[in-house]
Amino acid sequence: MNVKVDTDGTVAHQDDAGDVLLSVRNLRKYFPIKDGVLQNVVGHVKAVDGVSFDIRRGETVGLVGESGCGKSTLSGCVSGLTDPTGGSVHFNTRGRGSAHGPLDEGDRIDRMDRATFAKYRRNVQMVFQDNFASLNPRQLVVDIVGRPLRVHGIASGTALQEKVVELLEQVGLGRQHLYRYPHQFSGGQRQRISIARALALDPELIVLDEPTSALDVSVQAQILNLLNDLQAERHLAYLFITHDLSVVRHMADRTITMYLGKVVEEGPTQDLFETPEHPYTKVLLAAKPDLDDDPDVPIQTLAGSIPDPARPPSGCRFHTRCPVATSTCGWEIDDIVRELETREDLFDKLVGVDRKSDLEATLTFSDSAAAHAVWEAIRSDSVPETMRDAIETLDVRDGALMVRFAKPSAIELREVGTGHRAACILAGE
Ligand SMILES: Nc1ncnc2c1ncn2[C@@H]1O[C@H](COP(=O)(O)OP(=O)(O)OP(=O)(O)O)[C@@H](O)[C@H]1O
Ligand code: SF4
Ligand SMILES: [Mg+2]
Repeated sequence: MNVKVDTDGTVAHQDDAGDVLLSVRNLRKYFPIKDGVLQNVVGHVKAVDGVSFDIRRGETVGLVGESGCGKSTLSGCVSGLTDPTGGSVHFNTRGRGSAHGPLDEGDRIDRMDRATFAKYRRNVQMVFQDNFASLNPRQLVVDIVGRPLRVHGIASGTALQEKVVELLEQVGLGRQHLYRYPHQFSGGQRQRISIARALALDPELIVLDEPTSALDVSVQAQILNLLNDLQAERHLAYLFITHDLSVVRHMADRTITMYLGKVVEEGPTQDLFETPEHPYTKVLLAAKPDLDDDPDVPIQTLAGSIPDPARPPSGCRFHTRCPVATSTCGWEIDDIVRELETREDLFDKLVGVDRKSDLEATLTFSDSAAAHAVWEAIRSDSVPETMRDAIETLDVRDGALMVRFAKPSAIELREVGTGHRAACILAGE
């Protein structure tokens, strides 16, 4: 524990694993899918589905995963811009210098009184990838950066202008930029303006959603250095979302891998990069080797696309694409339906699926030849061997196919090292 105590006796700075600034617990965000003239709800996109993690004061947590896995939705919930469907977000609003252990019910953002919630909103700011969209093109820099100060009644008039100059100088801009519009800047400079605006209220956490993805590599490096410098000066915490694993490796103390709305691995960045435990993290790392990796080692890529988040695979959500899946990873009736969807000739003849559960159903076809063809296909090499092994019963009679899968293993995040967790039955072996 590294606690510095000021002369007045207050704890000024605490780099302790217990000094949690933000906790997310079993967070869920489901978006309704509406259909028809009456816009009836016919299903839900499970964008974030039971996510838990902590961010400590002054640390950078990297969040990685393929497009659509729920990173931005999660960041919206963390920053209070999106109401979650379930679970909770807790934030320590007691400010810098307050030693704090695990956050409790009193810190839940949806149960805070107005004043405490306003304090939380001031303390969590966002920087987005698309600074063209996030900076009002009709406003001058002085108004963009000064707005939070004005809205919160922190400064006005000349004092506000001087405060804006101070913020601009902290991000490498200056007084000469006060009366310019966003389009008069380069992409890197616009991102500096976004960062200055995020700093205006002196937050403790900044959520950075792909902050450098739209920038040239050299400009990217400048912005990353700026973020590092600001963090050191202000003891800021970052939730850093990016597709770029080399950026995460450079920036993050801890890294979280998400797949289809769930955390599949989290741990100290170095451990996660050197000894990834989840097959998905392994594939992500192999697909994006560092420049100093051996160029003769073939890049492993993932088969197939991300399944529909409106009907995510059960068991381990990665089982439909996992290169090392076993027979107990979560094979289910929907896997048969997904297989059929790739065979248009047979799928067209599927009349109904009468489910007893995710694991057991009778599939009815328009003719018995089709049912028999599916029966044969399921027993052949055209489906993964581990899926075939998971089938307990497979009977065909007339136009009906009866299928029952064995119960899969329970797959949860579990400890595989110090502070390192992975949700895979093979992790740690
Ligand atoms: N407002 C919304 N209404 C319905 N579905 C949504 C909404 N916002 C996001 N989604 C869906 O939720 C899922 C997660 O989206 P999200 O934008 O969080 O992914 P992401 O990981 O940030 O992707 P990217 O890397 O492309 O930015 C996607 O399937 C997306 O289509
Ligand atoms: S539990 Fe592990 S082995 Fe099984 S599908 Fe998931 S990632 Fe692959
Ligand atoms: Mg996103």
